[in-house]
Amino acid sequence: MPLTGVERYGHGGDRWTAGEMFGRGADAFVDFSANINPLGPPDSVVRVLQEALEDKGAPVLARYPDPRARSLKRALANRYGVPEECLMIGNGGAELIDLVNAAVRPSRVGATAPSFAEYEASARKRGQEIVYLPTGEKEGFQPEPEALSKWIRSVDLAYLGHPNNPTGLTVPYGQLLAAAEEAAVAGTVLVVDEAFLDFVSDGEARSLLSRLADFPTTLLLRSMTKFYALPGLRLGWGAAHPDWIRRIEELQIPWSVNGLAQIAGEAALSDGAFENVTRRWLAVERCFMMERLRELPGALLVPGEVNYFLLKLEAPPLGGTGASRRLQQALGERGILIRDCSTYPGLDDAYIRVAVRSREENVHLLQKLGEVLGKGEIF
Ligand SMILES: Cc1ncc(COP(=O)(O)O)c(C=O)c1O
Repeated sequence: MPLTGVERYGHGGDRWTAGEMFGRGADAFVDFSANINPLGPPDSVVRVLQEALEDKGAPVLARYPDPRARSLKRALANRYGVPEECLMIGNGGAELIDLVNAAVRPSRVGATAPSFAEYEASARKRGQEIVYLPTGEKEGFQPEPEALSKWIRSVDLAYLGHPNNPTGLTVPYGQLLAAAEEAAVAGTVLVVDEAFLDFVSDGEARSLLSRLADFPTTLLLRSMTKFYALPGLRLGWGAAHPDWIRRIEELQIPWSVNGLAQIAGEAALSDGAFENVTRRWLAVERCFMMERLRELPGALLVPGEVNYFLLKLEAPPLGGTGASRRLQQALGERGILIRDCSTYPGLDDAYIRVAVRSREENVHLLQKLGEVLGKGEIF
């Protein structure tokens, strides 16, 4: 059934559709529906982009970009200690999710429910069977180990969000290892989507990146659009066995990663100060939001580890049929965008997701939430 809400094109962060629905300009929202670092993009990135554009003749625009993004790959290889031939660059993580599907050519695609919509979308458009692994509220939205192994064996390609979207939960390291081992034995391709891992302070220690050589059927994906706030520029990367990288790159449209994105990525990777400031902001603001959101009457917070939270609107005054859509509408009319999570498989209209933003914006959200709920106007 086609979607009709703000998420009709599949995702949060759609100010344009929200603007049409709530009678406001696209810029007239504080956006809590997309999980973008509010401190970014880094000044260092903006500076290199400005310099590149001001360079006489603007060669970055006037030349084709490096089709293999060699310089950016070198920077990633140095930063993460991964051989360049194990790296691929994408026009956002979303492109790589789709390219992996194109390269694997699976019959059965596995996604946990709930999880990021593009895993299913990449399968659906090719007429592949989708096999969901339900991870419900009862299990704390974590896959149960035995069910996880069985599910990996039952599909050709399996996606695991680490951290998962929309729950913000990571997969315990032991379980990740077990999943990668199971996938190797079963010949299943396992994609661990680490798009939000940068927001986890000890994220690198919890990634399989340094162990990839042991798991030839496991691929890791990262995004640079969230932590570095570059969703409009588009940039992601992935790591895998060189055979996978070759197959995937053969299927990639030439020059899909533009020249500005490539130089922005390099600048972002060398900006340690931005990373530190972001980690300090998130450590404080995450706790603040967690505490305050937990105080909402009837709301159950999933204790995500990153820059967004999944909330269940459980009991009156929040709960009830269509609560997520009504709350989104009431806040949208007040210039605040939240993610209605009823479109996620495995969730219903009791669930919303909000990003963590600056203190001022977070307080604004909490105030408006209080105002809407206090008036009981969503019922
Ligand atoms: C879990 C997850 N993976 C990948 C992506 C793709 O991100 P991008 O294409 O902006 O890099 C997203 C975007 O929301 C996401 O939530």
